[in-house]
Formats: sequence, C-alpha cells, structure tokens
Amino acid sequence: MFDKISTIKEQIVDFNSSDSNEIEKFRISMLGKKGSITDLFTQFRNVPAEDKKEFGKQLNLLKKLASSKIEELKSNSGSNKSTQSTIDFSMTAQPTVLGSRHPISIVKEQIIEIFSQIGFTVSEGPEIEDDWHNFTALNFPEEHPARDMQDTFFINKEMALRTHTSSVQVRVMENEEPPIRTISPGRVYRNEAISARAHCIFHQVEGLYIDENVSFSDLKQALLYFAKEMFGEKTKIRLRPSYFPFTEPSAEVDVSCNICNSKGCNVCKYTGYLEILGCGMVDPNVLENCGIDSEKYTGYAFGMGIERIAMLKYGVKDLRLFFENDVRFLKQFDKGI
Ligand code: DAH
Repeated sequence: MFDKISTIKEQIVDFNSSDSNEIEKFRISMLGKKGSITDLFTQFRNVPAEDKKEFGKQLNLLKKLASSKIEELKSNSGSNKSTQSTIDFSMTAQPTVLGSRHPISIVKEQIIEIFSQIGFTVSEGPEIEDDWHNFTALNFPEEHPARDMQDTFFINKEMALRTHTSSVQVRVMENEEPPIRTISPGRVYRNEAISARAHCIFHQVEGLYIDENVSFSDLKQALLYFAKEMFGEKTKIRLRPSYFPFTEPSAEVDVSCNICNSKGCNVCKYTGYLEILGCGMVDPNVLENCGIDSEKYTGYAFGMGIERIAMLKYGVKDLRLFFENDVRFLKQFDKGI
C-alpha cells in the first residue's frame, strides 16, 4: 500500500503539461471517481489498524500534492494563453504581393499628362446619357445610322449608354464660357460583337478647344505634339479627310508605324501608318446648340480610343486581353508605383 503511494507521488511529480485538456485528464486519473488516489481512499479500510494513522496522513498529503500540482499547471496554462503564441517569429516573412495598374489606366494617365502640359484640364460626364447630349446637340440627323439599335444600348426612348465621350463636349460647352480647353476620358458602350478588334465597352478620350481664332493648324500642331510625346520624337502624323456630324471639316489621323519605321509591316498592313483618332473643327451648329456664339468663336475637337493607343504602344494584338484581367497579362505593364 505504501508502495502505491510512492508510485503515485512520482507520477504527480513527473507530470507536466500546459495543455488544459491534458491537465484535466490527469486530474480525473488521480482524483476522479475512478482515479488512483480516490481508489486508495476506498482501500483505506483494508489497511492494518497499526498502519492506519501513518497511511491516512500520507494519503492526505498525496491528495494535497496532486491538487496543488493541478492548480499550478492550470493557472500556468491559463496565464500562458495570451502570451504563448503559435507564431514562429523566426520564419521568413511572406512578401506582400502588390497589384499593378491596368495598362488602360496607365495610358489614360499618360494622355492626361501630355495634354495638361499644353493647358488642357480634365472634365467628366455621365455614362448613362440622354439623346440630346449623345446625338442631337452633336448634329446627328434624326435618321443617322449611329442612332440605330445596332450601335447603341438604349435604356429607353430618351436614354442610352453613351456611345462616345463627345457627349461631354456638349456638357462642357453648355456650362462654361470660352476659352475652353478640356479633355474628357471615360468609358463608352456600343452594341458590337466582341472580337480581337472591337468590344461592347471601351475607353475614349475626347478633346475640345474653343476660343477666338482657333484654326485647323492649331489642331494639327496639338496632335503632332501628342503623337511625338506618346510614340516618340520621330513619329510623324498624317491627316485624311473624313466625316463626323459634329465637325466640319473632319479628319482621321494616322501615326507613322514605329514597329517598321513606316517601311510597312503586318501591324500597319504595309501602309506605314496606323489610325489613332478622329478630329475636326467643331461644326457651327454644335456651337450654337450649346449656346456658344459661332460668329465669335471657333474650336477643334478630337476623340481617340484608349485601347487602340495602348495596343499600338505595347504591341497588343487582341483587345479582349484588356478586359480579361489575367494578372499575367496585367503585371507586364506597370513598373511599380
Ligand atoms: N466621337 C467619335 C467616335 O466615337 C470620335 C471623334 C471624332 C471625336 C471626331 C471628335 C471628333 O471630337 O472631332 O468615333
């Protein structure tokens, strides 16, 4: 019997744990209903009378030893909870993965930067636009095919998703007095089949300059400056006569192909030039529609697709890549913020 007491005593002394479940298991194995110490208490009546006193004393001490050990371990495991951490501080840190700016945002910012150098401010307008701002004020005849359901996402008879950022020109002219010098970047929508060259949503930047004596040569110089800043000092531009309802005369502008140095390649379809934008002198009807005296003021406007500029600049052959948000594609453009 006394041997049993010493064995259990050793077990108590040897036991160590900071896990509260394990400590509880140990408590049950010692002091629970079927625990070893409880068992010794039941066996007390079998102890010979002469040993009863000594045995009882040792048994009580054993019980005390077990209780205080359990208390001590429990309080350590509790107080350790807040300080004991499962974090391994010696582990190497996970590098923070930074996102990158979208190539369309990068090119948009660059266009804004280039035009702000020559005094253009930025203006914006709504993407859900009324017929007046998107078409009528811009001199679109009632039966013009661009109003057709094929091109425009109509919301109802009056409202549509804007098909171009030229609608912002109208808003600016209605609200501001000349001189006006502004560019308007933004999203536009067209009901087109999605392909490598077209998308139902894309981005444009509109430009507008209204003042006294603004001439076509001012327009040409501004665009030449832009092309050189965007595509390099050696870039040349070429203007081809064109038609837009809101400008007269109108032109389309090509830049020299810097992939083949204008010698002809499959990107420029062996013409040596690539089309980048439409432009012209603001039609006097448009000025009048927006409350600007067309006898006193003249102006030029231009509009370009940001995707198109980005494709030329970065040699991207499929427009859809800009909308897929594949990080392997996106992270090639931003060299860090
Ligand atoms: N709005 C035209 C388009 O979406 C682009 C454009 C052409 C804008 C000529 C202009 C302009 O301001 O003068 O195709």
